[in-house]
Amino acid sequence: MRAARLCRRRVPQAREIALVGSYNIHQLSKQMTEAVDFIRQQWNGTPCAGLVLGSGLGKLCDAIEIEAAIDYSTIPHFARTTAMGHVGRLVCGNLEGVPVIAMNGRFHFYEGHAMRQVTFPMRLMGALGIDLAIVTNAAGGVNRQYATGDVVVIEDHINLMCGNPLTGTNDDSLGPRFPDMSQPYDLVLMARALTIARLHHIIAHRGVYAAVAGPNYETRAEYRLLRRLGADVVGMSTVPEAIVAAHAGIRVLGLSTVTNVSNPDALKPTDGESVLDASRLAEPRVRKIICGILEKEANRLASE
Ligand code: HPA
Repeated sequence: MRAARLCRRRVPQAREIALVGSYNIHQLSKQMTEAVDFIRQQWNGTPCAGLVLGSGLGKLCDAIEIEAAIDYSTIPHFARTTAMGHVGRLVCGNLEGVPVIAMNGRFHFYEGHAMRQVTFPMRLMGALGIDLAIVTNAAGGVNRQYATGDVVVIEDHINLMCGNPLTGTNDDSLGPRFPDMSQPYDLVLMARALTIARLHHIIAHRGVYAAVAGPNYETRAEYRLLRRLGADVVGMSTVPEAIVAAHAGIRVLGLSTVTNVSNPDALKPTDGESVLDASRLAEPRVRKIICGILEKEANRLASE
């Protein structure tokens, strides 16, 4: 419980969340309270870090000392995962001595879920007490200097999803109406992730992630446009969760694995299977970075 005590982010209490007016807000807060109560019945830990494991990265759960594994289908108000390679299980336990909650599989906008459903698990993890979110994904390389298998530490993002999880009435107990986005990804965590990568001889870049709605991969003209817009990688996830985490005051580290690199002048076809295969191959590298980050967090927690 040492680590739990040291998570400094203030967690809104159930009653506090529920007291905000407006039907919309009441719905979200009531749903969060019900989901939190359900998780607490299955697991009595207090997570410090939340991991969102993208396509092909679920194997990372093998490294967790698991105390509870909860199918999404049993959690109140969770949507159903339909995406390839997304198991749909919340894994609770310890990783590198840090209490964590890991999403083995996420929800995507392209599955037809509303943005609030896509980000409901992040809201839940925030209400459970996390103050660090590590959000991972498989992404297409728009920067042609990148190669398949490289890791990208996300330094910024461009939201091209035509949707935002904060649309609608704001619950001021969860975060501000107009959250700042000048630095959505934590600078200290970014620097640490790059250092850990270097120590393990993992090729890692600092880059800008563009989020698109999907589910199709990009056309040649779209890859060209994304590059001109300043994107280094493109994917169909991560940004909604990062926005909600930033809104809730949770530190965010974003990690992409490059699963295909676009050369718009000679674009090769991409498909879900090859993306998944490339991501699975990169999983040990992403795992090393995440474990290194959590090791540092454990030291920080122990010294406070
Ligand atoms: N585009 C969008 N999403 C992706 C890609 C891509 O090229 N690769 C993996 N996810």
